[in-house]
Amino acid sequence: GTRSLLLLPGDGIGPEVMRQVRRYIDWMARKRGIEFTVEEGLVGGAAIDAQGVPLTDATLEKAKAADAVLFGAVGGPKWDGLGFDMRPEAGLLRLRKELDLFANLRPAKVFDALVDASSLKPDIVRGLDVMIVRELTGGIYFGEPRGIEDLGNGQRRGVNTQVYTTAEIHRVARIAFELARKRGNKVCSVEKGNVMESGLLWRQEVTALHRAEYGDVELSHMLADACSMQLVRNPGQFDVIVTDNLFGDMLSDEAAMLTGSIGMLPSASLGAPDADGKRRALYEPVHGSAPDIAGRDMANPIAMLLSLGMALRWSFDLHTEADMLEQAVQNVLRTGMRTSDIMQPGMARCSTSVMADTILRE
Ligand code: NAI
Ligand code: MG
Repeated sequence: GTRSLLLLPGDGIGPEVMRQVRRYIDWMARKRGIEFTVEEGLVGGAAIDAQGVPLTDATLEKAKAADAVLFGAVGGPKWDGLGFDMRPEAGLLRLRKELDLFANLRPAKVFDALVDASSLKPDIVRGLDVMIVRELTGGIYFGEPRGIEDLGNGQRRGVNTQVYTTAEIHRVARIAFELARKRGNKVCSVEKGNVMESGLLWRQEVTALHRAEYGDVELSHMLADACSMQLVRNPGQFDVIVTDNLFGDMLSDEAAMLTGSIGMLPSASLGAPDADGKRRALYEPVHGSAPDIAGRDMANPIAMLLSLGMALRWSFDLHTEADMLEQAVQNVLRTGMRTSDIMQPGMARCSTSVMADTILRE
């Protein structure tokens, strides 16, 4: 069948890095005979300016129809101070909600040429390759009741509630087990079951699912505070970490810093499979629109290109093309070529386009 992609470049450096994705797609068609139907749409500030809202219904329908969505980044000073539903970020939040993207995958992988860019000792991060699977649509960020209440005695209280159902735990844990089978075959499930009921249920349900369907995968459990410590002490012990929305938010940022630059980090957000077994999916770099360097051909395109790599793998089963892309990135970094965010003494500074050219040639 045909493969369809919707590209949503967004704002700031979003369009600059997305342009490089287009070139890899063209290369696959030319050199490997792999064709995609590619559409492009507006999101974020660009959509506010042209269409009056951060994401139109028409663009949303295209996103639902596509096999995968590639998202650049949104936001910038021009649109700061608009109401909540009119902020550029509202476009991304609406996409996540409407596509029901409940699992956020954030790989933290250290390329050997960048071992020195980490804030940790080279011995600790060399060869690091951890995948954090974060539950994205449930938990304390969305639980009811919530709000700020007036207690009438001069006091107020802020309330948030953490709720997880069996089904929510199973679907995200399933993704972690499936991923582990294609990697190091280890899952570490992280919660605070010692003090949280939702964490206790999380541990029980992950254990039950493991016993029933994934006995071949090695499963361990860890409390979230201990995991946060182990990530900087001995991150090499982890393969796949699966955790809730709140802990995943923090642990994935922590893991990201093990690798050095935000310009290197891709991500995937996956939804439920439809009747044909096809999952909704959105792929995006972890970084934002970087207004401080936008328009200057300075952005590192690698996070965006590796996000395409994740799409090739998880939405299209094009593992060879994903491997080729990752290997090309690895090789180019080894030659000493660096965008300014990953610049190191003695290396050669280059622009967005030269970095992408070189990766493409490689
Ligand atoms: P940011 O990630 O855009 O930038 C943080 C720092 O990292 C900046 O100094 C930037 O120049 C640098 N940086 C980021 N990506 C880079 C790349 N590919 N190559 C080289 N350097 C890079 O985060 P910040 O500054 O907090 O937010 C800027 C705007 O982006 C805001 O409007 C924010 O709301 C938005 N944002 C959007 C996100 C999204 O679309 N998913 C995520 C995070 C922020
Ligand atoms: Mg965060």
